[in-house]
This record gives sequence, structure tokens and C-alpha cells, in this order.
Amino acid sequence: MFEYLTAGESHGPEVTAIIKDVPSGLFLTEEMINKELIRRQKGYGRGKRMEIEKDKVHIKSGVRHGLTLGSPITLVIKNKDWKNWQEIMSPEPFQTKEQAQKQRVNTPRPGHADLPGIIKYNTRDARNILERASARETAARTAVGAISKQFLKQFDNQIYSHVVQIGNVKTANYEDVDEKLDSYFKRVEESPLRCGDIKKEQKMKKLIDEWRENGDSVGGVIELIVFGVPVGLGSHVHWDQKLDGRLSQALISIQGIKGVEFGVGFNSAQMPGSKVHDEIYYKQENQGGRFYRSSNRAGGFEGGMTNGQPLIIRIVMKPIPTLMKPLHTVDIDNKEKQFASKERSDVCAVPAASIVGEGVLAVELAKAFTDKFGGDSMQEIKNNYKNYQDYVLNY
Ligand SMILES: Cc1cc2nc3c(=O)[nH]c(=O)nc-3n(C[C@H](O)[C@H](O)[C@H](O)COP(=O)(O)O)c2cc1C
Repeated sequence: MFEYLTAGESHGPEVTAIIKDVPSGLFLTEEMINKELIRRQKGYGRGKRMEIEKDKVHIKSGVRHGLTLGSPITLVIKNKDWKNWQEIMSPEPFQTKEQAQKQRVNTPRPGHADLPGIIKYNTRDARNILERASARETAARTAVGAISKQFLKQFDNQIYSHVVQIGNVKTANYEDVDEKLDSYFKRVEESPLRCGDIKKEQKMKKLIDEWRENGDSVGGVIELIVFGVPVGLGSHVHWDQKLDGRLSQALISIQGIKGVEFGVGFNSAQMPGSKVHDEIYYKQENQGGRFYRSSNRAGGFEGGMTNGQPLIIRIVMKPIPTLMKPLHTVDIDNKEKQFASKERSDVCAVPAASIVGEGVLAVELAKAFTDKFGGDSMQEIKNNYKNYQDYVLNY
């Protein structure tokens, strides 16, 4: 369930998503999805494009009177900027050779999909590649993520994200923050960098401004946290059912994301096993009778399965490839040294990527959830989930 396909070019008329097998009876409105689209568009360091696009979803199928039908859900998000690109993005053939020549992009950008894409797809115009490689596609994925979040909410799963590094400015991971969840993440939501530390936020802004002045771009690290996930999503029995593996693939597929870590992650390499693994304890019957851990260094996964602890995942985003002071490249026609092309561009999109990360994570969790508790309707899935919860409590 929750399989989906996105389509659409960055400057085409719209981006679209079709989602298969969302159970029937899930309460869903366009407004719920729009809230997530607005969150994705915010962030310090974004380019002019985000001032033009005020994303709004249109639900074209699969929902009736606020409830999903179980049939494919089609989502459409119009690209407002399209009116300025109709000629360049027209599906009709160019009228003249000169026109085609004038509008070509022939200086591929290092770090973008341009050069491998034009060679692989046998084209002499990098626009044929960059239009689809562009992170405009993440608007569609965020919309699919919004539906998945709404599904997961019915089972008390809550997803949070914050930015823990911009350039070389780092803040604490959530586990090291000594503050209540609600007030901390309220501040994160209000922060243009999705950073919960106001002092560090100022430093991050300064860094973005300085690097922007130099015609440069900025990357960072995002932490994603999920509470309320039951034990036993994913499986150890097949390589492609391991949920940490599936999440890694989905998160790395976000444009610009280059690494994923769970729990203590890469730091575990320098720690002894006794300081890495989470000891197992049991609360006796009169205290609620359940297994628990005194730490969560694994980040909620053991053997490719959720272990009932909160999920803690960090992803790293590289700096944006389009630079206002471009790097060297080669003109694909005469093979001479050139500067890379410039498209209107973000300088830093880490806060936006954190919302995309939430959405992509939600989709994979919703898939894993329905793999385990699946049914055609919300009621059926709720019943299955309730049976499993009872079984776990009595284990
Ligand atoms: C929300 C978001 C916004 C982005 N904005 C830009 C941008 O304005 N300019 C740009 O060159 N790359 C941008 N990127 C990154 C590129 O799309 C990405 O680096 C490119 O598609 C190549 O893919 P790769 O970095 O995953 O290899 C953005 C990524 C995300 C997630």
C-alpha cells in the first residue's frame, strides 16, 4: 500500500502524484496537505522561486466528502511560474532551428544531474534533464507524505524534524536537549532555519549570508524523530524488508541528501560495544509489565525492525550545486572550458529538505505499517493493530 508515482517538470504546468491503495475511510482534506506544502516552502536561504510559487494541492481522485475511497488518489500542484516558461517547456516542436539553439543549456553544472543525464538520455540540452532532476518534484512527495502522516496519526505516530547543522555551525541533537518536546518543537516550527537554538540560529543565518555574498551555497544536517512506532515494523528475514534499509533508500533519494545515520550512527565506530547497545529491562506486571531500555543509541532499529523505541535518524544534505559564482565546466558543443550555467536557485534548502524528509519517512512508515496490519479500510487496519497491541502487552 502507499505505492506512488510522481510526474512533472520543474517549469512545466504542474507536478502530479498518484498514490495506490490508501485504505478507505481516512479523513483527508486539501487543507491538510496544503499545510505541509507551506512548511516545505519556508526557510532562510531559499531563492526567488519560492516567492512566486504558493503551492496548493488539488485532489483529483480517490477522496469523496473528506474520506478516502480506497481508489487511486491523484494530486495536482500547479506551477505558477509556468506562464513564464510556456514557450521553453512547450510539448510542441520548436518552430525554427535558431529558437531551439537559443534556448539550450549546454554548460552542465558540477554536482547536478546535468552531465550524466545528457549522456545517458542522449540529448544535447541539459534542460531535458534538469527539469525533472530539480527538487520541485519534492512538492509532490511532500503532498504524498502529508497523506501518509495523516494515516500514521490515527495510530499516534508523531514525526518531528529539526536542523542540527548548517555549514560548520552545529546544535544539539534532540536527545541532548533539556526541554519539553512541545515547547522545543514549537520554537523549531517558528524558526526560519528549523533550528531550536536561537543563538546558533543567528550564527547559521550569518554563515548563509556570508557564503551567499561569495556566490556560494550551503549544506547541513537534519534530524528526524518519530514517536509512537510499534515494535516489529520491517523484518530481518529478507534484505529488502529491513526497514532501516528501506528508509535509507527513500531518504537518500531526496535531491541533495548524501548520507543517513541511525541513533549514534557514525560515532558508534569509536565507541566500545558496551556503550553502544541499549540494555534490556522489564517492568513487572504491577508497573505495566513491559520491556524497556535505559538508552536509545540504536535509534529505534534492531535487525531491520523497529524495536518500540523512538526512531532517531539524521540525514546530511550537500551544498546546492547551482552557484552564483559558478564552477568550471565544459561546453558540450565545442568542449572548451566554460563556467557552469546558472538557474534561479536556493543558497540553502536544508530547512525545506527537513519537511521533505518528514514526508518521505512517513510514506515508508505507512507502507511498513500496512505491510503488517494491512486491510482495505481504516477500520480493518485499526482492528488488526489493536489485536497486535494486545498481543504485545501480554507477551
Ligand atoms: C528542497 C530542495 C531544494 C533544492 N533547491 C535547489 C536549487 O535551488 N538549486 C540547485 O541547484 N539544487 C537544489 N537542490 C538540490 C538538487 O536538486 C540536487 O542536488 C540535484 O538534483 C542533484 O541530485 P543529488 O544532489 O541528489 O546528486 C534542492 C534540493 C532540495 C531537497
